[in-house]
Amino acid sequence: MLITPSILNADFANISAEIERVAAAADWLHLDVMDGHFVPNLSFGPAMVEAVKRNTDLPVDVHLMISQPERWIDKYVAAGANNVSFHFEATNDPVAIATELKKLGVSAGLAIKPDTSLKEVTGILKYFDLLLIMTVEPGFGGQKFMTKMLPKIAQAREFIDRNELNVQIQADGGINLSTIKSAAMAGAEVFVAGSVVYSSDNPASIISELKQSIKS
Ligand code: DX5
Ligand code: ZN
Repeated sequence: MLITPSILNADFANISAEIERVAAAADWLHLDVMDGHFVPNLSFGPAMVEAVKRNTDLPVDVHLMISQPERWIDKYVAAGANNVSFHFEATNDPVAIATELKKLGVSAGLAIKPDTSLKEVTGILKYFDLLLIMTVEPGFGGQKFMTKMLPKIAQAREFIDRNELNVQIQADGGINLSTIKSAAMAGAEVFVAGSVVYSSDNPASIISELKQSIKS
């Protein structure tokens, strides 16, 4: 069970201090890249990934919410990403991108929006290391967890186990102390936590509490 805090709600002007606040407890750092096109919001690009990388030894988990991700993946790998997840809905050839990411030596993640069914991606899952299931509409932090995504997580768990695939399931959006357990029970194993972590006075202890509530 891994927790990957999203820095979307961190103070961008003090990014090294913000990383320091979670470093002892976090497993990875989740960086939400938004282009104002694939999603309405705009966040940051490769320069921020590079700045984060310079300030941490934690694996850097980049979530690209951008159109035509194939045009940008090499820039994010060069910036220091350890995993790059991109959206199934944003490209015509997800397998080619996964293959390219592997060639570049990083892990490949496939992200799916709430309206994309698992059925649409089962045929290509074997090319990926991670399946990012959005549990909110992508674009903003601080939204409410969509419980109707739980069956999708459970189907993914069942499919991955039955086919003995080496694919981690990541739940992203609305994860907090009251939702993480249901996502874990459905079969997720990597949890993005944004606003719950960065709105706290003690982000590291929230991460420990999240881990605790999975175990309970
Ligand atoms: C939403 C992003 C999420 C989000 C998580 O588009 O992909 O990673 O920032 O933030 P919370 O935990 O606040 O939903
Ligand atoms: Zn994300």
